[in-house]
Amino acid sequence: MGSRSIEELCEELKGKRVSALAGGGEKAVSKQKEKGKGTARERIAQLLDPGSFVEVDEFITHRCTNFGLEKTKPLGDGVVTGWGTVDGRKVFVFSQDFTVLGGSLGEKHADKICKILDLAAEMGCPVVGINDSGGARIQEAVDSLNGYGKIFFRNTLSSGVIPQISVIMGPTAGGAVYSPALTDFVFMVDKTSVMHITGPAVIKAVTGEEVTSEDLGGAKTHNEKSGNAHFIAASERECFEQVRKVLSYLPSNNLDDAPVTETADSVERADLSLRGIVPTNPNKGYDVHDVLASVLDDGVFTEVQPGWAKNILTGYGRVGGRPVGIIANQAKVMAGCLDIDASDKASRFIRHCDAFNLPIVTFVDVPGYLPGVTQELGGIIRHGAKLLYAYSEATVPLVTVILRKAYGGAYLAMSSKALGADMVLAWPQAEIAVMGAEGAANIVFRKEIDTSGDPAATRAQKIEEYRAAFATPYAAAERGFVDRVILPEETRKELWLALCGMESKKTDRPSKKHGVIPH
Ligand code: HXC
Repeated sequence: MGSRSIEELCEELKGKRVSALAGGGEKAVSKQKEKGKGTARERIAQLLDPGSFVEVDEFITHRCTNFGLEKTKPLGDGVVTGWGTVDGRKVFVFSQDFTVLGGSLGEKHADKICKILDLAAEMGCPVVGINDSGGARIQEAVDSLNGYGKIFFRNTLSSGVIPQISVIMGPTAGGAVYSPALTDFVFMVDKTSVMHITGPAVIKAVTGEEVTSEDLGGAKTHNEKSGNAHFIAASERECFEQVRKVLSYLPSNNLDDAPVTETADSVERADLSLRGIVPTNPNKGYDVHDVLASVLDDGVFTEVQPGWAKNILTGYGRVGGRPVGIIANQAKVMAGCLDIDASDKASRFIRHCDAFNLPIVTFVDVPGYLPGVTQELGGIIRHGAKLLYAYSEATVPLVTVILRKAYGGAYLAMSSKALGADMVLAWPQAEIAVMGAEGAANIVFRKEIDTSGDPAATRAQKIEEYRAAFATPYAAAERGFVDRVILPEETRKELWLALCGMESKKTDRPSKKHGVIPH
C-alpha cells in the first residue's frame, strides 16, 4: 500500500496535466502569437469538432543527455497527439508545438507521431499532421534522423489506404519536408508557412543565389510555382475549414465508400445557359468553371491546386449528393493544352481518387500536348505518359464529357474509351479527330490546294469538308467511342444516370507487386 493519499496522487496528476498544457511557457507562447500563429492545441481545437479531442502520450519526454538537454524535459516532447472527430467522423491528429524546443523532432517526438500514424492505419481513419518545427532536434542527432525515417516509412505504407493530410503552419525544413510530400495533400498558410530542403543561407553559400525565405518556400511559391502544395489559406482558421471540407468528400479509408450527403438540388435540373458557355468556334476560350458550376450540386466545385498548372482543373464536387473527383481542361489557359505540369497534376489526382473510391468525371476540351523545346527536353513524353497510366490503371467508374475539342494523343489521354472510360458523353459541338480541321485540311489536301486555280477558296472548301466529316461527335459515336451524344443542358442528369449506372463497377487488373509508373 502506498503511503500517499488518493487526493495527493490526484493532485500530482493534475499538476502534470497543467505542466503539459503549458507547452513551452508563457514567453514562448506569446512569441508564437506575435508571429500570427496559434498554439498546437488551439489548432487541434480549430480542426476537430468541439470537445472531441482525446489526447495520448501527453507525458512523454525525451531521454537525451547530450548538450545538457537532460535539464529540459518538457512533458509531451513538443508534439500534441490524439484523435477526435470532423463532422462526426473519427480523425487522428498530431500537432507540433513550436513553443517546446522549437517543435524539433527527436526520438520520442517521432515515436508519438508514429503511434498516431499506426493507430490511424489500424482504425482505418484519416490522419492530419500539423507541422511547425525547427526540424531534426540537433541534440538528438541520429536518433532524430531515424525518427523521420520511421515516419516516412509509415506515410508510404498508408498511402492510398487512409487519407493523409499535411498542414504546414510554420517552418518545415530539410528532410522534414518529405513527410508532407508523401501525403495526399499539403495545406499552407500565407506568410507563416515555409517549406524548403535547404534555406536561403545555405543556398547563398553553395550557389551564390540570393532569395528570401518566403520566395523560396512560402505558401504562394509552393501553390503557384513548385506545385508542392495544394491549398493556400489567408489564416489558420481558413486553412482548417479547407481541411474539413476536403475530408467531407473522402471515405475514411480505401475499403469504405465516400460519404453521400443529402441535397435539395434536383438531378433533373436542366440549365439551358450551358449552350452559351462553350463557344462552337474551337478557337474561342471560356472558363470551364462555369460548366462545373452549372452541373455540380449547388454549383460547388472544391478545387485542388487551383494556383498551379491552371490549364487543367482538379477537384471535388457532388452529383445527386455523391462525391466525385473532377478533371477538366481549362480552355481559357493555354487553350487547355496538356503540358508537363498539367500531366503531373491531373495524374496524381486521378490516382488519389482511384485509391479512395471516388468516381472520376473528366470534362474534355483539349487541342493536344503543348509543343515546344522546353517541354520536350523537360520530359513531356514521360510526364504525359503518367496521364495514360493513371486512367488505364483506375478501376473506379470513369465518366467522360467531351465538351468540344478532343484531338490526337490528348484525346486518348483524357479518359478515352480505349483507356477504360465506362461512359463517354459528348456535346453536339464535340470534335473528336486527329487534329483541328484547318491543320488537317492543309496536310491532307495540300496538293489539291496548291494546284487549284484559287488556293484560298479550295482551302476553305476542304476545311469545311473535313469539318463536316470529322469535326463532330458522330464519327466517334458511329464507332462506339462515344456512348451518348447529349444536349448541353442534359449534362447534369446524364452524369447522374451514368454514375448510377456504373456504380457497381467491378474490374480487375493483372496481379502484380506494383507497376513501374513513368516519372
Ligand atoms: C533543437 C531547436 C531546433 C532544432 C529550433 N530550436 N530548432 N532545437 N533542434 N532543430 C530551438 C531553438 O534553439 C530555440 O530554443 C527554440 O527552438 C525556438 O527557436 P528560435 O530560433 O528562437 O525561433 P525562430 O527565431 O522563430 O527561428 C525558427 C527557425 C530556427 C528558423 C526554425 O530555430 C532554425 O533555423 N532552427 C534550426 C533549423 C535547422 O537547421 N534544423 C535542422 C534541419 S535539417 P530556445 O531554448 O532558445 O528557446 C533536418 C533534417 C531532417 O531537419 C532530416 C530528415 C531525414
